[in-house]
Amino acid sequence: MSVRHFLTLRDLSRDELGYVIQRAIELKTMLRNGQPHMPFVGKTLGMIFEKSSTRTRVSFEVAMNQFGGSSIFLSPRDTQLGRGEPIEDSARVLSRMVDAVMIRTFAHETVETFAAHSSVPVINALTDDFHPCQLLADVQTFVEHRGSIQGKRVVWVGDGNNMCNSYINAARQFDFELVVCAPEGFDPRTDLMQENSDRVRIERAPERAVEGAHLVVTDVWASMGQEEEQAQREAAFRNYQVSPALMDRADPQALFMHCLPAHRGEEISHDMLDDPRAVVWDEAENRLHAQKALLEFLL
Ligand code: CP
Ligand code: NVA
Repeated sequence: MSVRHFLTLRDLSRDELGYVIQRAIELKTMLRNGQPHMPFVGKTLGMIFEKSSTRTRVSFEVAMNQFGGSSIFLSPRDTQLGRGEPIEDSARVLSRMVDAVMIRTFAHETVETFAAHSSVPVINALTDDFHPCQLLADVQTFVEHRGSIQGKRVVWVGDGNNMCNSYINAARQFDFELVVCAPEGFDPRTDLMQENSDRVRIERAPERAVEGAHLVVTDVWASMGQEEEQAQREAAFRNYQVSPALMDRADPQALFMHCLPAHRGEEISHDMLDDPRAVVWDEAENRLHAQKALLEFLL
């Protein structure tokens, strides 16, 4: 069988994604019940981080620990990756030693190049274009709180960034409607919008966009690598803050998610994460369970 990678949500079929979500819920229950499950004894995950991380790093390390395996944290600062060793060579070498590789980097082509030269599964742990692991956790969280996300209306408020692009892929793969509410000039990838125009649309006004929403999601206004655009972005996104008052215009059963880290007073109001509709702590925890299910599936 040829090696499977997870660079975007499109790398798994709808059925496979559905399986991973159900398995994540099952693994979470097993963990809660104190039931050990160690399918990865002797296996190692290589973790390449070219950008900062709290949740992604901890969830992958803990996942490998709980599975009886181990992980190696690799940063460009202290590996040859930072000194210009070609990504193709690094992929060939690392994949002869470890059993899977997780990469957080800038250009999406970097994970594609790495995967093309890797003999073991490669997982995208965030690029400038996509953050598919976060979507597994988000969908798991929705399913746990509200049941199937199929046919539901999800509203993305804010920057058309890596998370937003992944929401477009999720709309296609999990079969829901997506309303993207971004200010002009900050839309998600045009090719993704065009390909999925049957289920994804733009609505510029937040108050109108959230009408009928079953899930409202936002993210930071300036992503990693865009720090210098902070001031300009704060001005452009000023009217795009998610607050309990905005949530009141959504469906009465609506949930709120944010991949975190969050900036209170910018993309969310100071009280948004204390609102009962916010499920961000479950969402963060589910990174662990969803990625365990993903690792088990890929390996
Ligand atoms: N949501 C997320 O990926 O968080 P980290 O940047 O802390 O990994
Ligand atoms: N869009 C954010 C997500 C962080 C988890 C970023 O890329 O920085």
